[in-house]
Amino acid sequence: MPDIKVLVLIGSLRKASINRQLAELAAETAPDGVRLEVFDRLGELPFYNEDIDNDDVAEPVLALRQAAAGADAALVVTPEYNGSIPGVLKNAIDWLSRPFGNGALKDKPVAVVGAAHGRFGGVWAHDETRKSFGIAGPRVVEDLKLSVQTTAFDGEHPRENSEVAGQLRDIVGKLAAEVG
Ligand SMILES: Cc1cc2nc3c(=O)[nH]c(=O)nc-3n(C[C@H](O)[C@H](O)[C@H](O)COP(=O)(O)O)c2cc1C
Repeated sequence: MPDIKVLVLIGSLRKASINRQLAELAAETAPDGVRLEVFDRLGELPFYNEDIDNDDVAEPVLALRQAAAGADAALVVTPEYNGSIPGVLKNAIDWLSRPFGNGALKDKPVAVVGAAHGRFGGVWAHDETRKSFGIAGPRVVEDLKLSVQTTAFDGEHPRENSEVAGQLRDIVGKLAAEVG
């Protein structure tokens, strides 16, 4: 059976992003038969604008939509910015929500996880990402949740935290199991 492909979107563009590290960990520990692929070009997407969402759409948008079309599911790994979704991620959701009713992730399972500095670990951003993606077309798997306070990592790579590593592996496995 071919591998289940999971598109990974990271809500931080920072090189040393803890959420990027979490995404790396998810890829490293994914169960056999599940392949995670980070789409690393969210910073290249223009701001969503209906005037430029046409047959001649910008190449990074095309690349995002192609990556999404080729995926069976998606995993979002994001921090929280000012109590909400980082703009770079929201912009990607908007691009993926079109064509209206027929976006490239339509009906595919999506899980949202991440880490933030605040004591709730970014839960507002994670809840709002679920809400927004749920409206945008994919099928959000609501009970796959992980919101970690970054202090839990104590300056180390998240792979050093066996509890979080185990939770993440479990979520990726359950997300893959949602692929119909
Ligand atoms: C513009 C900005 C806004 C932020 N707002 C929040 C917030 O609302 N809640 C929170 O828990 N952390 C907030 N933080 C802190 C981030 O959670 C923290 O910097 C986190 O490590 C960023 O994720 P990254 O390491 O993946 O880049 C904010 C950081 C920035 C730069």
